[in-house]
Amino acid sequence: MASLPLIALDGPSGVGKSTTAKRVAAELGWDYLDTGAMYRSVALAALRAKLTLADPDALERLLPGLELSQGGGRFELNGEDVSEAIRAPEVTALVSPLSADPRVRDTLVAQQRRIGGRGRFVVDGRDIGTVVFPEACCKVFLTASVQARAHRRFLELQAKGLPSDESEVARDLAARDLTDSTRAVAPLRKAEGAWELDSSALNLDEVVKTIVAHHLAHGGAQA
Ligand code: DC
Repeated sequence: MASLPLIALDGPSGVGKSTTAKRVAAELGWDYLDTGAMYRSVALAALRAKLTLADPDALERLLPGLELSQGGGRFELNGEDVSEAIRAPEVTALVSPLSADPRVRDTLVAQQRRIGGRGRFVVDGRDIGTVVFPEACCKVFLTASVQARAHRRFLELQAKGLPSDESEVARDLAARDLTDSTRAVAPLRKAEGAWELDSSALNLDEVVKTIVAHHLAHGGAQA
């Protein structure tokens, strides 16, 4: 079944999937699809529509009207650049419960398959190797300890001049890990045939180099 020339890069929050995926795509001359940004865009639209998750029909009214697109590292929602807005803390808080809704997942998975279905994509998310592209030629499950991820996030926030408490960052990451890995639909887990890379002790360059080398050594050179 594994034949699609596509790298499925899954893993928990804060492990550096999007930065890694972008760099791996650039190395291979492939495109990059950030599926987390798609879930974030739906969460942003839900917040703006003041949608309550308790209203069973609200999502059905919202989803058909959403047009998502991405390119050059920017994200658009109905033609508006929302690249910064989708990183707001309110969006981050809503996206985990919202992405557990099967109607949201069905809509976005269909779009992801349309975009990446012909391959030559690096796609990052939580369910790319398990649900969206199980036929991907290369599936990577990127992990790092909660402590390593919290420390990296803490340094990033510090560099932006945003004060934060490292143990609070760690608690937040652990909570998101739990929500994402215990939800009923498409929980975060290592796909069958996926290669697990623990990046706790690696820097970004090392992670990118290791993934590209793994991909080329496992048939990626023919893609
Ligand atoms: O990767 P990220 O932090 O931008 O993802 C935001 C949220 O979207 C995260 O809580 C999990 C969810 N997500 C998902 O359920 N499936 C995906 N393929 C990608 C992200």
